[in-house]
Amino acid sequence: MINRCLFPAAGYGTRFLPATKAMPKEMLPILTKPLIQYGVEEAMEAGCDIMSIITGRGKRAITDHFDISYELEHQIQGSSKEALLDKIREIIEKCTFTYTRQNEMKGLGDAIYKGKVLMGEKDPFAVILADDLCINPKGDGILTQMVKLYNKYRCCIVAIMEVPKDEVYKYGVIEGNAIEDGVFMVSNMVEKPEIDKAPSNLAVIGRYILTPDIFDMIKNTKPGKNGEIQITDALCEQAKKGMVIAYKFKGKRFDCGSVEGFVEATNYFYNLEKTK
Ligand code: UTP
Repeated sequence: MINRCLFPAAGYGTRFLPATKAMPKEMLPILTKPLIQYGVEEAMEAGCDIMSIITGRGKRAITDHFDISYELEHQIQGSSKEALLDKIREIIEKCTFTYTRQNEMKGLGDAIYKGKVLMGEKDPFAVILADDLCINPKGDGILTQMVKLYNKYRCCIVAIMEVPKDEVYKYGVIEGNAIEDGVFMVSNMVEKPEIDKAPSNLAVIGRYILTPDIFDMIKNTKPGKNGEIQITDALCEQAKKGMVIAYKFKGKRFDCGSVEGFVEATNYFYNLEKTK
């Protein structure tokens, strides 16, 4: 049973400066909802009710967002605007939020390692990078699809998508054998490879299911690309020692960590709202 979801959100979001100077990237809204709330809703749909966020300096707005604002509640009580808070009220009521800080930006692997104290060492857990906004309007959310797969294979799972060959340098890239339609047994993973050294064009995006033994793998992982502790390197070790599955998810993913992806997501969600 996967009921915990970890949200590494300690990054500086430098591609969005100056917007992210005093505000976390994860609070940037697509229409009226901050990125991190989309992630939390996806995790809830997948069965999680413990949301654990790895924050850093200047990220207090995230903590405040998932808490009751008494002044605001009082102000809009009885007005038509109350309905705008329905979903966030439901989230606050149904979920428990826990936080810890990553003091130094030592990479995604290190951020996930900081979550050990929140995730415990017994159960598998989900990881969502909120700046990767995922949606599957026609069926199960991406994390729900992955939880279903976990129930079958009971090992670490990474979500992947095909990317143009000249974009592999932005991602962790997998090598593996297809074991069923859209499901690969991973044999190798490379973080941000040069185009001619990429083992495939199957890129890892910001959705993972991890088993708790990943913490030992991360602990033994040396800084890799850009001097950061890479979750890709820890998972590559995991793949060699045991089993890691890559899953070509059904749905769409927007790279909201980039201005281009953010604008694309905004247009997509705007059109989706208009056709409702
Ligand atoms: P990114 O590299 O996309 O995020 O990390 P960033 O560093 O915030 O963005 P730019 O490049 O400066 O614009 C992917 C995810 O991993 C988290 C980030 O918060 C983001 O959600 N992360 C990354 C951490 O929590 N800690 C780290 O040390 C690195």
